[in-house]
Amino acid sequence: MPDLRIILVGFGVVARSFAEIVESDGESLARRYGLKPKIVGIADSRGAAIAQTGIDLKKALGSKKDNGDLSGLDGIYHEGMTGAQVIKEADCDVVVESTPTEITAAEPGLTHLKTAMMKGRHVVCTNKGPLALAMPALIELAHHNEVVLKFSGTVGGGTPVLDFAKKCLEGSEVRSIKGILNGTCNYILTRMANESATMKDALADAQRLGYAEADPTYDVEGLDTACKLVITSNHVLGTGLSIKDIDIRGITDISVEDVKEALSQGETIKLIGGVAGGKAKVSPERVKLTHPLNVSGTFNAICFDTFPSGEVTLVGKGAGGPETATSVIRDLLEIRRAYAR
Ligand SMILES: NC(=O)c1ccc[n+]([C@@H]2O[C@H](COP(=O)([O-])OP(=O)(O)OC[C@H]3O[C@@H](n4cnc5c(N)ncnc54)[C@H](OP(=O)(O)O)[C@@H]3O)[C@@H](O)[C@H]2O)c1
Repeated sequence: MPDLRIILVGFGVVARSFAEIVESDGESLARRYGLKPKIVGIADSRGAAIAQTGIDLKKALGSKKDNGDLSGLDGIYHEGMTGAQVIKEADCDVVVESTPTEITAAEPGLTHLKTAMMKGRHVVCTNKGPLALAMPALIELAHHNEVVLKFSGTVGGGTPVLDFAKKCLEGSEVRSIKGILNGTCNYILTRMANESATMKDALADAQRLGYAEADPTYDVEGLDTACKLVITSNHVLGTGLSIKDIDIRGITDISVEDVKEALSQGETIKLIGGVAGGKAKVSPERVKLTHPLNVSGTFNAICFDTFPSGEVTLVGKGAGGPETATSVIRDLLEIRRAYAR
């Protein structure tokens, strides 16, 4: 069984979790799935390392922990080398892109994806930005270059939302989609509903617990939900949406009184990303307390309205390093199956 040669562009929470799994569980991956990942390149924001014989992942993880960069990889480290340079210089089968999500120009992720596919490399992407902004063009580029572009981790973290909808609902027509796609907002709204916490206090707790970033705008203003909605809608319904097509309203103007009023009528307020009849929007909506979408805390839930089967709802954790790393493994397995040599 040949090695699957991989370049990791971005070596943060997700990529390091993936590297830890490969390092500690590599034998099991080979035995159970015939998957033998060999990391031949790693890039972060400061530089990169390349070794066609395979990078020592224990050393790479240790260097990142001790130095904040990959400089501990003596002899193979190149300070200042960019992700795009590594993709051009190192020989690989798959590029795993996990740099930060950015939605104005989707960089540097967009350049990494384009460079990789134009070089004939398959891509696994956990970064939502490029797909939220330019998914139809990227899919076209993948077809044109006869490579696979996978992005399971962009929606639902480790919960297989996209594959579930595409593969397990085959035979039913998905007519509309509604989801709670952002754990931070759901945590805040749950605290407001269960404990009458104010938005400010619930957000501060979310930040203290590491659920929300220091700058929580992207979550609470609905942008993260919108990115995931675009990707889900395009993948499952074949819409050609970009984030610019979405009406977006976040949760910042929701008060405890609004939530209490909903509760008095057997409902609660959730930030919903939904698409029906070709129209997509993100907004706070009332959800019946008895509906499966009424999940608490940082959980995500997504409800597919299907014909003739009716509503099917998938619930799971929407983020987390190890969880999202499992989505990378699923994507690699699919690439490996498609291109088994
Ligand atoms: N964490 C999750 O639970 C989760 C779940 C689903 C999807 N995602 C998405 O997956 C992506 C990665 O998430 P993460 O949590 O791993 O993020 P992260 O911890 O912030 O890591 C991002 C990595 O990208 C690197 N980077 C930044 N700019 C770069 C550049 N110009 N060239 C090369 N590398 C660059 C960073 O370098 P330094 O190490 O030098 O800073 C870091 O290693 C994001 O787009 C995120 O939205 C995350």
